[in-house]
Amino acid sequence: MNYRQTHQNSINNPEQFWREQASKLAWFRQPKTILSNNPEQPSGYEWFAGGELNICYLALDYHVEQGRGEQIALYYDSPITGNKYSYTYSELLHEVARFAGVLQQQGVAKGDRVVIYMPMIPEATIAMLAVARLGAIHSVVFGGFAAHELAVRIDDAQPKLVVSASHGIEPHRLIPYKPLLDLAITKAKHKPLGTVIYQRNNVPDAKKVVCSMQEGFDIDWQRAMESATPANPVTVASNDPLYILYTSGTTGKPKGVVRDTGGYATALHYSMKAIYNLETGDVMFSASDVGWVVGHSYIIYGPLLAGCSTILYEGKPVFTPDAGAFWRICEEYKVNAIFAAPTAFRAIRKEDPEADFLRKYDISSVENIFMAGERLDPATFAWTQEKTGKPVIDHWWQTESGWPICASPAGIEKLSVKAGSSSLPVPGYNVMVLDDSGDPIAANEQGNIAIQLPLPPGCLTTIWGDSERFQTSYLQQFPGYYASGDGGYIDSDGYVFIMGRTDDVINVAGHRLSTGEMEEVVASHPAVAECCVVGASDSLKGQQPIGLIIMKNGLDITPEQLEKELVALVREEIGALACFKKAVTVKQLPKTRSGKILRNLVRKIADGHDYVVPSTIDDPESINEIKHALGN
Ligand code: COA
Ligand code: AMP
Repeated sequence: MNYRQTHQNSINNPEQFWREQASKLAWFRQPKTILSNNPEQPSGYEWFAGGELNICYLALDYHVEQGRGEQIALYYDSPITGNKYSYTYSELLHEVARFAGVLQQQGVAKGDRVVIYMPMIPEATIAMLAVARLGAIHSVVFGGFAAHELAVRIDDAQPKLVVSASHGIEPHRLIPYKPLLDLAITKAKHKPLGTVIYQRNNVPDAKKVVCSMQEGFDIDWQRAMESATPANPVTVASNDPLYILYTSGTTGKPKGVVRDTGGYATALHYSMKAIYNLETGDVMFSASDVGWVVGHSYIIYGPLLAGCSTILYEGKPVFTPDAGAFWRICEEYKVNAIFAAPTAFRAIRKEDPEADFLRKYDISSVENIFMAGERLDPATFAWTQEKTGKPVIDHWWQTESGWPICASPAGIEKLSVKAGSSSLPVPGYNVMVLDDSGDPIAANEQGNIAIQLPLPPGCLTTIWGDSERFQTSYLQQFPGYYASGDGGYIDSDGYVFIMGRTDDVINVAGHRLSTGEMEEVVASHPAVAECCVVGASDSLKGQQPIGLIIMKNGLDITPEQLEKELVALVREEIGALACFKKAVTVKQLPKTRSGKILRNLVRKIADGHDYVVPSTIDDPESINEIKHALGN
């Protein structure tokens, strides 16, 4: 079947379509139904009810049983420390089963939450799979988040245990994870029963940090592993949560996206061939972080479910040591599919515009280059395609979906792609463009991108502890549809163009952040009377946040000093990855007569785009001041 037939079939006969996909997994107990109505589920429907499985079993034990124990499951490549080593499926299983034993000994059982706050080291993967082995729920927090953000997630997920490491290693500094974790636990209302800390001893002396351990609370990973008894996989129901992954919404409180087990395993397994054209024994290199959804789906679960070899890369696309880093990885591990955010390729292009480094390496094993995480601008698309001579596939998805919504599915049919478009809806997704009242709109007209319900397997099932927020964030705006929060259009060939968020979510270097959250932090400074934070276009990182501040009267602080303090505050509260570096003081903000800040207008001014002044504006003069302050 070609792409169009396959897609049509998935929409017309979802049960038949997904029954076939689910049958490719080694369930402990086959699902009784494929898709059923279930009023008890926040979505009102359920995939694979009655099915039982364990995703860690499918990712590891199953392959060993199939005779693939000696195949490499995971390559660890860390130019930042100089370390490189690999694990076969048997070795990874051995480590995971033992670490699951460590967790079990600490009382972790099915349904318990375990927060994982770790750098890009194999132990992060081992911890995730070990939690899944016990039927417990992991919640990985990206290592770039500061203590406050970690505390917010600890309070929401209420973990029994936190797994972390002594420190992270960035090109120019060491990140003290353990002290950040200690601070987060002090700040959090919920107190875990303890922690397990991996001490990074196998790094050069200059990059070592010995962290202090609290007797009876902090457990040393290495020591605990010495006496661990391997744990067996625990059977879970298809709909049991595998993980909670927090993502930015429009408020200061991140949303805990809940992923089920059976739907996710089925969808990822399907996507490995259909979208990435990868099969057992192939090599996938996803240059992301285990703290993001790409890390969950395509560094860990997807490749391992499919019996591929995956690469855990602790480094940057540039400066570790140069702009040839990705190409080296492709040559060294004979990578078949590489996946990274466009910002990574923009960084490579900036450092090496003629792609001189590329000529030093043999990347003939690479079949396709995939990009996602933010819009792939046509210039980066053209450069990558021209310099590598490889098909470049932009594909669109979200933390919520867990796997691609739109793509040119390389394993189904080689379709032509269009610059600026993430191609066509993936089988399972019925993607539409709706106007603000929820009516479908014509081809080439811009509107709200929505997906007709039911969502295919693998997508979020709810927001952790807040099913009402799940409804209000995604299902209420357009009844019968999932509102993606992205705007764009579908052209007359059916190609989807994602043009950007319709809410206060921004994307900085492929990292999803909330300007609403930054506003809350900025507003907490005692000298700030009012503020607004918007994302402005940035040629390297896609977007960068900019703060517009109204200072309180009569305080002894200059705008320059205030900017410095606000930059430090956002770094301290959210983390360096927010890249909040500009806070401009103004006398007034453009507002409607009812007092609502016209953020959309400010965004357009910041980007130097055309704008229409809304008739509801309170003081049109405020626009000139903003233009002046932003230098536009
Ligand atoms: N732990 C702790 N801190 C981190 C971190 C982590 N895992 N990742 C980033 N940071 C910090 C950095 O140290 C930096 O701090 P600094 O301001 O003190 O220098 C800050 O966050 C910003 O980091 P980064 O975005 O990496 O900026 P950069 O200018 O060093 O690098 C790029 C620019 C484009 C090379 C880099 O952003 C990049 O590789 N982006 C791709 C991201 C990606 O793969 N996203 C995947 C989503 S699918
Ligand atoms: P995240 O949840 O971090 O994966 O971020 C999801 C958001 O990133 C989406 O809602 C989009 O705004 C943006 N995004 C991801 N992939 C693409 C893409 N291929 N094209 C345009 N935007 C994208």
